[in-house]
Amino acid sequence: MLEPFAAVDVIKAKRDGRTLTDAQVDWVIDAYTRGVVADEQMSALAMAILLNGMTEAEIVRWTAAMVNSGERMDFGSLSRPTVDKHSTGGVGDKITLPLVPVVAACGAAVPQLSGRGLGHTGGTLDKLESIPGWRAQLAPAEMLATLDDVGGVICAAGDGLAPADRKLYALRDVTGTVEAIPLIASSIMSKKIAEGVSSLVLDVKTGSGAFMADPAKARLLAETMVRLGTDAGVTTRALITAMDVPLGLTVGNAIEVEESVEVLAGGGPSDVVELTILLAREMLDLAGLPDADPAKALRDGRAMDVWRRLIRAQGGDPDAALPVAAESDVVRADVAGVVTRMDALSIGVAAWRLGAGRARKEDAVSAGAGIRLHVKPGDTVEAGAPLLTLLTDEPGRFATAHDALTGAVVVSPAGSTMERLPLVIDRIT
Ligand code: URA
Repeated sequence: MLEPFAAVDVIKAKRDGRTLTDAQVDWVIDAYTRGVVADEQMSALAMAILLNGMTEAEIVRWTAAMVNSGERMDFGSLSRPTVDKHSTGGVGDKITLPLVPVVAACGAAVPQLSGRGLGHTGGTLDKLESIPGWRAQLAPAEMLATLDDVGGVICAAGDGLAPADRKLYALRDVTGTVEAIPLIASSIMSKKIAEGVSSLVLDVKTGSGAFMADPAKARLLAETMVRLGTDAGVTTRALITAMDVPLGLTVGNAIEVEESVEVLAGGGPSDVVELTILLAREMLDLAGLPDADPAKALRDGRAMDVWRRLIRAQGGDPDAALPVAAESDVVRADVAGVVTRMDALSIGVAAWRLGAGRARKEDAVSAGAGIRLHVKPGDTVEAGAPLLTLLTDEPGRFATAHDALTGAVVVSPAGSTMERLPLVIDRIT
């Protein structure tokens, strides 16, 4: 096949700050998916995009080209309105686990395609895989049947969905080009648009444990994604939420499932409950169910019923005991006072080093590893009180986890003030 462009000309155009034409964008994405544009050429182009940016029109075209690189799912046969949520990821962010059942219990269908964790942020599929028997891989027909029957499904995206992004994301990960807002926005939104939902709520995290630590950049990312979704016919809204402190009191896999089940039973930490209900309200509003009451669905057991059916439908046993780490080590307060800092990034890195996360895509994660938080900022502690419990299967990992925690938790004299982000920082529509 005679190619209409040379990759090097497209790279030079972006390197020199020019705007790529629609034809260039369509071609470069398609040719990269076909293997005609080589990884080293795409790396150079991704770096030029990171350095020189993209216009709004380029981002829209780039996203559409990635959607068109694969198949699109169709939920048109379902009787319920479809709505999804995507979080940019954080430490202790287990919100998908209670959120999908609660929204499904209120009448919407939630086809949640989730990922695995890489680096210090956890992945929803890794957490759910700590439930004995639970399967992340579902055939498209099985996914549709579960959605129809249960109202929610949480599974891995099939290989056919935005294959250009799958290839490009792996390349960006090893070439220092993940952090470009046009590339992040088009990567996330191409998968969500290809997924075929009618509406989408984005939870864009900011603070030390987030991908976008700087709130101004998080806002720009949220605005870009909301525009991309809306342009593609997916009604999209975003909340910008805090990730300066871990969410809830657990960071890991099995222990995050345990905490999610507490929320589904009507209890659980207040920040996890609050964010679950806020996101559920946004999703239900977009799904045309503004009067549904997610707090009531948590209280009266309907969300728990959906959770149990969802876990069973995917091969899991909701009553099975979850894996427990073999070893634990407690971090205690040196002095009495008030907790003024619990740094999300440091705690995320420590949990990862204990075995809860992976360094390379191929690595396995430990289901039982992680960190339990005994306090949150604002709590008063006595000298010697437990602050954190570190959990691992391999005691050799404690030392590097402790290194990551240096300065992560600060206890200050009683009456000290602290700076904390509000749970919800902004809402973009
Ligand atoms: N998540 C994605 O799916 N893509 C990115 O580029 C970053 C986070």
